[in-house]
Amino acid sequence: MKTFGVTIHSTGRYLPENSVYNETLTQWMDTSDEWINKRTGIKKRHLSTGQDTSDLCIEASKKALDKSDVDSSQIGLIIVATMTPDSQSPSVASKVQAALKANNAVAFDLSAACSGFIYGLSVAEKMLRHMTFPYALVIGGEVMSKTLDWNDRKTAVLFGDGAGAVLLKREADAEAFIAEDLHTDGEKGDALVSGEQDVNNPLCVSQEKNGYLTMDGRAIFNFVTKTIPKSINLVLENSHTELQDVDYLLLHQANARIIEIVSKKLGSPLSKFPMNIQDYGNTSAASLPILLDELIEDNTIRLGSGQKIVLSAFGGGLTWGTLLIKI
Ligand code: ACO
Repeated sequence: MKTFGVTIHSTGRYLPENSVYNETLTQWMDTSDEWINKRTGIKKRHLSTGQDTSDLCIEASKKALDKSDVDSSQIGLIIVATMTPDSQSPSVASKVQAALKANNAVAFDLSAACSGFIYGLSVAEKMLRHMTFPYALVIGGEVMSKTLDWNDRKTAVLFGDGAGAVLLKREADAEAFIAEDLHTDGEKGDALVSGEQDVNNPLCVSQEKNGYLTMDGRAIFNFVTKTIPKSINLVLENSHTELQDVDYLLLHQANARIIEIVSKKLGSPLSKFPMNIQDYGNTSAASLPILLDELIEDNTIRLGSGQKIVLSAFGGGLTWGTLLIKI
């Protein structure tokens, strides 16, 4: 009997046209380019002027499909990882399915904040092995700007909007997904809250949730600089892989300082940790697929080359996780 595995077939990304530099933010709130750049590494971010999450996801998916020989009717699964859906129903994934005319695809959203893309890849890999159609789209897409309080400098300067898409293919005897380590710690969930809604029915006393994103940045910083090196080491150990045999480690682009600390703790050179946070800020679930697409475009990562890549992310939930894949 043939065993089936899953490989990455093509990728795409889409960023809203409008780039907003740190200097512009200083006109909107009490902050400085120096503070933002020194504390996070961010120089600019793209902000939507009206496009919603599904619009960004559709564009990113079209780009991934355009780079492939795949017809949308061959896609059996669409997962959109997002914490900023257009609406609670229909899902963003349903809108992507309709726009692509991917009529054979099961489509749903997955909510795991900045770890959503890692969770989405993990789920898609397992589902696709058993599905009729041979392709799956995993998309990370966010319009973070709609959930931010633009009077709160502690959060507003950190995030950006964007989407990245990965087209997965089921193949006989493929072994691209080598190992994974996924976690959730719900007890720490209050460290990042976004999109809360009042229960609003005739029995309710009035409540005052505003839905804005709030974050205990320092707590998350301390947490992830401990847990992410552990998670990466565990994946390497479990797969009997030496760190020096990993070509690149792609970390969620939340803060350049976090990436520098992880690089030091692992004892692996920073040159193995590509970054684009300077251009996009933290795009939550979109950050890893955007970075992956850029690295494939500039030939740093070459599909089909056998390069070993670690993908690792962390965020609201709290959630975190690491995948080791052979490209
Ligand atoms: N401009 C100027 N000053 C600022 C700004 C700003 N934008 N924001 C905060 N400050 C001030 C604070 O008021 C504080 O001043 P004080 O000392 O007088 O009180 C000072 O700067 C230091 O603030 P801290 O919050 O301690 O700064 P820190 O060095 O921790 O950096 C940051 C904050 C960037 C948020 C960092 O903690 C971080 O990156 N945390 C991790 C975030 C993360 O990874 N989140 C998970 C992913 S997100 C998701 O899942 C959607």
